Parts: sequence; structure tokens; C-alpha cells
Amino acid sequence: MGFRVLQQADQPTRYKLFSTETGSADERWEQPWGEFRYIVDRHQSLIVHLAETGGKKSLLDIHFRVFDDGVGFRYSFPEQNGPDSVVILDELTQFTFPEDHQVWWIPVHSENSYYESLYHKNHISETDTINTPATFETTGGLYLAIHEANLTDFASMTLRKAGANQYVSELVPWSNGVKVYAKTPFVSPWRTIIIGDKPGDLVTSTLMLNLNEPCSLDDISWIQPVKYIGIWWGMHLNKYTWGQGPTHGATTKNVMKYIDFAIENGFGGVLVEGWNEGWDGNWSEDGTKFSFTKSYPDFDLGKITSYAVMKNVRLTGHHETGGAVANYENQVEDAYALYHKYGVNTVKTGYVNKYLDGREWHDGQFGVRHYRKVIETAAKYRIMIDNHEPVKGTGLQRTYPNFMTQEGGRGQEWDAWSTDGGNPPSHTTTLPFTRMLAGPFDFTPGTFDFDYIVNKGTRVNTTLSKQLALFVIIFSPLQMASDLPENYTGNPGLEFIKKVPCTWSDTKVLNAEIGKYVTMARKDRNSEEWYIGSITNEDPRTLEINLDFLEDSLDYRAEIYADGENADYRTNPDPITVSTRVVNSRMQLGLKLAAGGGTAIRLVPVDDARNQVRIPQSHDLYIPQGKEKF
Ligand code: NOJ
Repeated sequence: MGFRVLQQADQPTRYKLFSTETGSADERWEQPWGEFRYIVDRHQSLIVHLAETGGKKSLLDIHFRVFDDGVGFRYSFPEQNGPDSVVILDELTQFTFPEDHQVWWIPVHSENSYYESLYHKNHISETDTINTPATFETTGGLYLAIHEANLTDFASMTLRKAGANQYVSELVPWSNGVKVYAKTPFVSPWRTIIIGDKPGDLVTSTLMLNLNEPCSLDDISWIQPVKYIGIWWGMHLNKYTWGQGPTHGATTKNVMKYIDFAIENGFGGVLVEGWNEGWDGNWSEDGTKFSFTKSYPDFDLGKITSYAVMKNVRLTGHHETGGAVANYENQVEDAYALYHKYGVNTVKTGYVNKYLDGREWHDGQFGVRHYRKVIETAAKYRIMIDNHEPVKGTGLQRTYPNFMTQEGGRGQEWDAWSTDGGNPPSHTTTLPFTRMLAGPFDFTPGTFDFDYIVNKGTRVNTTLSKQLALFVIIFSPLQMASDLPENYTGNPGLEFIKKVPCTWSDTKVLNAEIGKYVTMARKDRNSEEWYIGSITNEDPRTLEINLDFLEDSLDYRAEIYADGENADYRTNPDPITVSTRVVNSRMQLGLKLAAGGGTAIRLVPVDDARNQVRIPQSHDLYIPQGKEKF
């Protein structure tokens, strides 16, 4: 453990322990939104006070917290006798395993700088430098995840393979090679290790949230999880353009149509990309032309927002920066003030570029500072943030509940244009145990039409029913139904999307094998309803689930959206069956998942369910007849 700092470059520091403090906590706190309403923080703590034996006699504390399901530790640099500036050249924390376990990992900065990679599974010895969360399966059958919590004014941590079965913390550098500039007193983020017997234990761990600071905002009444649609997928399918032209997507007329669809179907938000000046030319290499206050002439912000707000729909404004951070920071106050004036309550930011401002990584201290500044500025103007091409999540939503969701993973957009055929079915059965451990993911599920060609051979590699199940599996308090409105109309699957919540009071993982299948049950935050999502990789399978999480005294009407006959993600993704039956906590339910398929279930308590639903089960087979139907 420790650091190499500029002042002591060539002499690894030796510290002597001079005192320790122990403590414990057993508290419960409430989240405004999330996968759980209440979170228990039960831990034992130890602070180790150290003093350097030679050199500058500097002080260093190490804080440990041990939870039932893992451990967190962080470094604290107290006020020193000497100068307060500290330049960190390296962190020396090592994670050493007794054996060459297997790890699910994504590479660092080699494919892109914002974590949009498919996960690989290898032995530790076969890896190099990997990102966190990194998830391990030990030879003894335990599951572990290494990550960090509360990444504040520091560089994010990656893991460099350093020796046999060992990683060392490799902080993401500034362009000049320095890792962190700090002034005492300061603390590092927490380094965290979650440990579980089953993969699901990683998913339901709240250790990362417990290691963040409580909410810092006085009034959070304006923060509202919503499902949204948007002028977005159309651009990725080349139906619309972001910039001006004959097929411009964000025209007043088109946005009004989307707002009407949102009103009719109960969506709370409409994302609009390509509304502002700056999209022409090579924006992804030079974002400095973007204006965040000037609309294109065919987009009437005032007219659109007054119509939307009247109908209780809010716009999500899009701010693609092309990675030009200085340009964005110069405009951000004005841009958010403008949005506040017009009732736009959410901003999706974007940073498509290898570097920020042409030289800094997204996940170095420079990026960490910028993303935080945006979240704090947004809070001042009552704006919720969904950031794409971000620095990874470390639980900051506890402190800033307006920081709703982010990308930071290979989302469904890759299924439009990726040259490798799109996300394989095993991607979404891996994400809950890897990327999702960093927090909400704006993955953008909800594809109903698989019949498009941007790149031959690339499309969403799931069945339609699996798309529904993803609304339960992938948590995001701003949850997008990403397909074009015309592809939803007339499809019974839309009913599930209309009903499924995007904030929960409880979450359970009913079964899972990482990369193969996972079934989750989540309870609605605002009612007694439960929802189940079950998904599989490329293999079809049957699963039996126990409903013992349901309230014993209640019967429930189960509305089951399942893969229809002969459904197969490769050849026949559309068929879906919708059936209802009465269930209770003493029952088991058999699920039949097609190749690349899934099942989505809504469970509604009924007073006298036997009188209210058709028994025996109804099976309403739905097979779309072709596009004209919509
Ligand atoms: C990448 C984002 O992930 C995507 O959602 C957005 O549409 C494009 N950048 C353009 O900003």
C-alpha cells in the first residue's frame, strides 16, 4: 500500500504506525431513487495513523471499513507540518490473489477511452491492464469485484498486472504523466472489494453507495426518475441526421410528434439530439463549434417546451461536446439557465473523442473534475444529468441525486452500426456483474424492429421478449425506450414498457451464471407490484424460479411476456406470447427462454385474483405480420 510522490521520487517511503482508532456503524438510510429504497450501512472501521520515519516526516492515515460483504479502504493525507502540495506519481496499492483466478475484464484505453468494450473472461495471468469494476471467480467458487467508491478530485484507478496473480493500482495520468495534483488535507477514493458466494451477491451489494457521502442537495423534490423516448435511434439508423438537411431529426414538427407519442403512452421525457448549432463538419474531432444556447432555425425551443410542459412531458436536452471541455465549461451556466427557463429538466451530455480538449483522458483527474463541475452546476439549475462517454460511476449519485445515469459501457447503439455484428447475446448476461456494479447504465433497451441495415450483419442480437426483460435487468432511473415510435405502435410488448417502473424499492437476483443467464425480481418503488426479468445468452434454456419473495398473504396476477414459438435471436426475433395466470409466494414458475431470448413479467397483487383473471392461463400469441402493421 502507499504512493510514490514527487517529493520522494526515488525513495519508497517508510512509515511507522503511531496509533489506531476503531469504530462501527449500524445505520439505515433512504435513497430518493435506486434499486433499493433503504440501505443498511453496517460495518466495522479501523483508522491507522502513520508517520514517515525519515524524510519530511509526513503523515498518512489509512481508513478501513469491513462490511458483511466486503471491504473498502482509502488513504487520507492529513494536514502536514511542511508544504501542503502533493504531486502523486504512482499509487502502490497491490491486489494479490493466492491463485490464478478467472476475471471478467475490459481493456484500458486501447479500444476507446470510455469503457465501450465487450467483456473478456480470462485467467489473471492472461490479462494486462484492466478497468474496474473487474469481477473475479476464484478457483474455490467465490465471486469478487474490485472497484472504487467516491472518486473525487483524483485519477481513476485501473489495474496493471504486476506479478503472478497480482495487480497494482495504475492511476490514469494527466497528459504530462503526473497522476494526481492535491493539497493536504485530502483523501483518495475508496478501493473496494465485494465478496460473495454467488454472482448475485455482487449485484445486490450496496457497499459502494455506503462509501459515498450523504446527499448534499437541500431540495430534491424536482428529481424525478422517468422513462423516455427520443429523437436518437433514427440518427443511428441513418433515418435522420443530427445536423441540418433534408432529413434533420430535431425539427419542431418531428419533436411535436414524439411529444404526442410520449403523452399517449405515459413517457415522462423526450430526448432531442441535434437541436443546436455545431453538428456540421467533423464534430467528433473538434467540438469547439458547438453552441449550447443557439438552436437550429427549424427547432423552436419555446414552442416545443411550452407544449411539452403543459402535457407534463419534459425535454431531455442533448449536449454533445465532442470532448471540447473548455468550450462547454464556458457555456454551461448560460446553457443550463436557458434550459431552466424553458422547463427542460434533464441534460444528456456527450464527449465523443479520444481525448478531452485534445490531450486529457476522460478518466484522469482532469475529466473527474470536469464531470463533477457539470453535475454541481446542473444541480443549481435543477437539472438531472445523464452523461455519455463519462468517467466510470463510483456511487456519487448518493451525494448528488441529480446525477441519474450514464453510459460508460457498450450500449445498444453498437447494435446499429458496429462493424463486429453488434453486442452478442452474452453481453447483457455479463453486464449485471461487471459494468452495472458501477451504477446505473443508460443502455437504451427497447428495440422492437430488427429489420434495419446500417452495416450488413449488424443488428440487435436478442429476441423482442428479451428487450422487455432488459428493462428489469439493466437499472437506469432515466430509462429509454429507444426504438422509433412507429415500431411500438400496435405491438403488445409496448404495454410492458408502459408499466415497468424505473426506480425500485427492492431487488433480488433469483438465479445467475455470469455470461449465461440471469433472472432478477424488482419491486416497484411506488406500489406493491413486482417485476421479473430473465435473460439468456445464445443458448435457449428453461429456468424454474421460486416466487417466495412475494408477500405471503397476497395473490398476484402475473402478466407474462415470453418468447413465442420458434423465436430465435438469429432467425426469428419477433414472436412474443402474452399470458396471464395467478401466482403466489408458495409457487414456482417455469420460464422458457429462446436462444438470445428472455421473459418479462409484471406481478400485480389482486384482492380476489381468482375472480379477476381468466383461468386456466390465456395464451395470446402475437406474431407481427410485417412492418405495414405498424
Ligand atoms: C454517442 C452517444 O453514446 C450517443 O448516444 C449519441 O447519440 C452520440 N454520441 C452523438 O452525440
